[in-house]
Amino acid sequence: MENRHYRIVGLPGDCIGPEVYRAAAQVLDCLAGVQGFTYELDEQRIGGAAVDAAGEPLPQTTIDACRKADAALLGAVGGPQWDDRPAEQRPELGLLKIRSALNLFCNLRPVVLHPALQHFSPLKPDRLVNVDLMIVRELTSGSYFGKKWRNENEAEDVCRYTREEIERVTRAACRIAMQRDRRLTLVDKANVLETSRLWRIVVRDVVEAEFPKLDLEFLYVDAAAMHLLTRPGDFDVMLTENMFGDILSDEASMLSGSLGLLPSASINEQRFGLYEPIHGSAPDIAGQGIANPYAMLLSTAMMLRHSLDDGEAADALEAGVYSCWEDGVLTRDLDPDGLRTQEVTDAVCERLVR
Ligand code: IPM
Ligand code: MN
Repeated sequence: MENRHYRIVGLPGDCIGPEVYRAAAQVLDCLAGVQGFTYELDEQRIGGAAVDAAGEPLPQTTIDACRKADAALLGAVGGPQWDDRPAEQRPELGLLKIRSALNLFCNLRPVVLHPALQHFSPLKPDRLVNVDLMIVRELTSGSYFGKKWRNENEAEDVCRYTREEIERVTRAACRIAMQRDRRLTLVDKANVLETSRLWRIVVRDVVEAEFPKLDLEFLYVDAAAMHLLTRPGDFDVMLTENMFGDILSDEASMLSGSLGLLPSASINEQRFGLYEPIHGSAPDIAGQGIANPYAMLLSTAMMLRHSLDDGEAADALEAGVYSCWEDGVLTRDLDPDGLRTQEVTDAVCERLVR
């Protein structure tokens, strides 16, 4: 293949963030050698680390670096040492601001259950047949970003969506569904909410006009929460607004039995993406070298596929991870005699060069 050169911003973040981030950096280095691409990794601050160094959770320098890059890899943000800070110095705000500043409206959260890990799921095996779903969550609008205010006796978080905001994330979800099983489920609360009624209209319009081959169904969010536990194998692509997507993706992630396994991507119109594990910064195990790096490594694979257009390298990395799972290479969250972060990372690298 021709010269492949990738510009990546590294955002280690807080607590176990830097530990899993270092695993990704090591694997990327190894993969570059094997696959023959080159890359720059420009490390920047976000979250509590940025609050400590610069007094704010998302310094302008971090945004500027992202604007010059193809993708960003993020560990995790947050920790108890910043809990009593004023709202504008909360690490999580760094995350919300970077999503908004870079227009990362499309959040992909795939939930796949690898056979070698199925026994970790809290669900009975017969419910887990064919679980392979993609949650597409709108990430830069809705009640997260609507007008907000509070006084002693009242508070308000406005949930507002425009047709355009719904259209662009719907198109992204439809394109993904067309490459999968061609089934799209819109999750909403159209029996109660006006925003949901608009979602239904706009999603139907887009599907009918541009993706007529897609099979579209509508599902209320309360029912969806239930069906994720009773028939998770029936879903292909699940499209939903910001808050519902936040809640349902945590629920869906537990199908796999560990928060440490699932990656995510947050992408904009130019295909720049922020890639991060769905787990948090796990302050309780930070600094011990035992964090599960797999969600971070799978996020790196998503970055290669979705922002860097290198499906081959993504496949190779995922194959390395799956081969480790098949050989029982696991951290302590899944196996009491499990390995350390560094040992798991080395095992993945060994499989890449084989
Ligand atoms: C997530 C997280 C964030 C969200 C928080 C940390 C702001 O829960 O990425 O799902 O609610 O979006
Ligand atoms: Mn969440």
